[in-house]
Amino acid sequence: MQERERKQRLFFALWPDDDVRRRIASVAVRVDAPGGKPQAVSNLHITLVFLGAMSAEQRACAEACAQGIVQAPFTLSLTHTGFFPKPRVVWLAADRQPPELLALVEGLGAGLERCGYRSEKRPYHAHITLFRKAPRPRASLQIEPIEWRVGQFCLVESVSVEGGVEYRVLREYSLGRRSL
Ligand code: 2AM
Repeated sequence: MQERERKQRLFFALWPDDDVRRRIASVAVRVDAPGGKPQAVSNLHITLVFLGAMSAEQRACAEACAQGIVQAPFTLSLTHTGFFPKPRVVWLAADRQPPELLALVEGLGAGLERCGYRSEKRPYHAHITLFRKAPRPRASLQIEPIEWRVGQFCLVESVSVEGGVEYRVLREYSLGRRSL
């Protein structure tokens, strides 16, 4: 019998450095989300494109696509929290989505179509999930802006572990020049 091909659950993301990560975590503890499931600090990120289960061949295709992306670095200014009612997610987001970020998401999405990826129809809304299954917060939290200089993006694997999920960075791609 043929062995079923192992697939990996993959996504492209912006991955904060330790300093930005610490600052995001310090916002999360101020959020009023009783009973909500906090995102592990080590998992905090912004998804660019969610690929889902990919074969080794599809992953290679996605990596080649990411390698070909040429996009300038940009700065995100994280300023406020908000809520997605359906998944009951409390998130942190930027005051505005820089054009470079949108071009990066669009460029990846378009290139990835030849790798078996189907472009997301919903408008892109960059966010950092802080809590899942949370009640609707009474108000949005406006914070002292966290300035995040984004110079790279990553290919990340979502791995199921006991008690939840762990996100593992597989590869990093520099912005501003073609990565090696
Ligand atoms: P979320 O944080 O808003 O849940 C890994 O699952 C990452 O990909 C999460 O950041 C998740 O966003 C995002 N994502 C986007 N679309 C997804 C989907 N259809 N299923 C699971 N995760 C998805």
